[in-house]
Amino acid sequence: MNAGHEITRESGARIYGTPKVAVSVLTADLARLGEEVAAVTQAGSDWLHLDVMDGVFVPAISFGAEMVTRLCGFSAAEIDVHLMVADPAGCIEAYARAGAQRITVHAEAHVHLHRTLAAIRAAGCKAGVALNPASPASAIECVLDDIDQVLIMSVDPGYGGQVFLPGSIAKVARARAMLGKRDVRVVVDGGVNARNAPELAAAGADVLVAGSAVFQGPGAGYRENIALLKSV
Ligand code: DX5
Ligand code: ZN
Repeated sequence: MNAGHEITRESGARIYGTPKVAVSVLTADLARLGEEVAAVTQAGSDWLHLDVMDGVFVPAISFGAEMVTRLCGFSAAEIDVHLMVADPAGCIEAYARAGAQRITVHAEAHVHLHRTLAAIRAAGCKAGVALNPASPASAIECVLDDIDQVLIMSVDPGYGGQVFLPGSIAKVARARAMLGKRDVRVVVDGGVNARNAPELAAAGADVLVAGSAVFQGPGAGYRENIALLKSV
């Protein structure tokens, strides 16, 4: 559900409908990644969040465009590629060809962010911009009309399984306020779980990215873990 469907709870807290869940596969059983992707899709993951890490922008290396192509074959969910790479501009077409429907790049990896966002849309994908915890929400102020989603990182990017940084909640609210009535998704990524999901949804998050909370979550299985994230 998007910002246009704002409703108010009895408590007075604003919510934007049930958030969507985008499962991040970094903490899945990587030796069985195709099966894991199929399982979380079956269990109700709205988007599949694929974290591309190049060992330069972030210390770790995950996978590249060829893996995205393969994983698309295991999922009917919307394919959401999060590029944690030093040269995002140079690989937009490759990820669009690989099957990405949404591509998010980091503001911190750019001198010419506007140009890359335009290239993502020109490639037929939804364009997203990600902000590290140390970057202010104001960093997106001049590209608000050039994006379809903003990704608020609630951990420093690079690894799954990190602890949620609580300051991210205010940043979600700030981003939501800046966006006004624009049809732009606010996405939160890192350490998201069933405990912080209600506050994130109340602050204006539309999409919760979750890895550990799904693959190592408290429920009986992936379906229950995804449902827990949505019970805000
Ligand atoms: C962090 C990634 C996240 C992360 C999510 O660099 O962008 O998508 O793996 O995993 P959890 O939910 O375990 O923090
Ligand atoms: Zn991510």
